[in-house]
Amino acid sequence: MCRAGRRVEAGCLRTDGFSWSGGEHHATGCHSDPDRPGHRGSRLSSFPDPRGSAVSRTVVFAGDKGGSGKTTTSHALCHGLGMHGVRSIHVTTDPRRLVLPADSRRYATVDGREVRQLARVIDQLANRDDVVLVIDGGGGRPEVDAVLSKVADLTVIPFLHSAEDLRVAVADLQRLSHAYGLPNRWPTQTWAKAAAEKELTKAMGDLGSRLMSPLPEINGLITLVSEEGANARINGQCKAFALRILERMGLNLFSFRAPAA
Ligand SMILES: Nc1ncnc2c1ncn2[C@@H]1O[C@H](COP(=O)(O)OP(=O)(O)OP(=O)(O)O)[C@@H](O)[C@H]1O
Ligand SMILES: [Mg+2]
Repeated sequence: MCRAGRRVEAGCLRTDGFSWSGGEHHATGCHSDPDRPGHRGSRLSSFPDPRGSAVSRTVVFAGDKGGSGKTTTSHALCHGLGMHGVRSIHVTTDPRRLVLPADSRRYATVDGREVRQLARVIDQLANRDDVVLVIDGGGGRPEVDAVLSKVADLTVIPFLHSAEDLRVAVADLQRLSHAYGLPNRWPTQTWAKAAAEKELTKAMGDLGSRLMSPLPEINGLITLVSEEGANARINGQCKAFALRILERMGLNLFSFRAPAA
């Protein structure tokens, strides 16, 4: 893959039955020349650098370690945005997971578990300036993370405070050079917090500048992934989390208001 050339080299990435072909613009029905000026092509095959774009609002939750909180925090973001009246779309990419029903939620849920469908979703939605596209990755798929992070304006890598999780998070941050780490389920009790922070500082070294403030253990966050949708008790924490993510993207709630006529 080559950022400078803004192209993904042809080739097929396979992880746990999830295959990813660099030539997806043909599969998605776009047969025009992707190098032609002005051609958008598939964002999975011919990547403009999204961080240079003023309009796209795409957040990817990534990371090699299973169970670090990618799915939970991605839904927390969408729920929090919804509580603020900001539209978002949650995209499931992990073929081992179900797409949750949207009718009990404040945001849309979309199936991106199949690569062509995911390419279509990104092509259609990643440049919309009125919604936040939130893409939930899956553990154990570093190649997929690398591709998704190229589409993202912000890549977030949640991680827990065990030595193993820290080790994997460091490797993720080194591989995905524009990603930010999110210490998740972080201890709040005084001595446990101090011990975790000591370990964190030691493990991260220079990468410490690429960390977001920690998200604590939040009782009830699991209700985000239930059929019924989130319990109202977590609304405030999800709203605060959504504001933090928007701020990290250089956005705020006014970024989504229609300009006065
Ligand atoms: N901040 C939090 N507070 C409380 N529970 C949390 C928090 N973050 C995650 N969890 C819980 O941790 C568990 C694992 O989280 P989750 O499924 O989101 O991880 P994941 O990174 O998506 O895993 P996978 O790699 O398998 O997709 C879930 O039971 C979830 O409810
Ligand atoms: Mg998950």
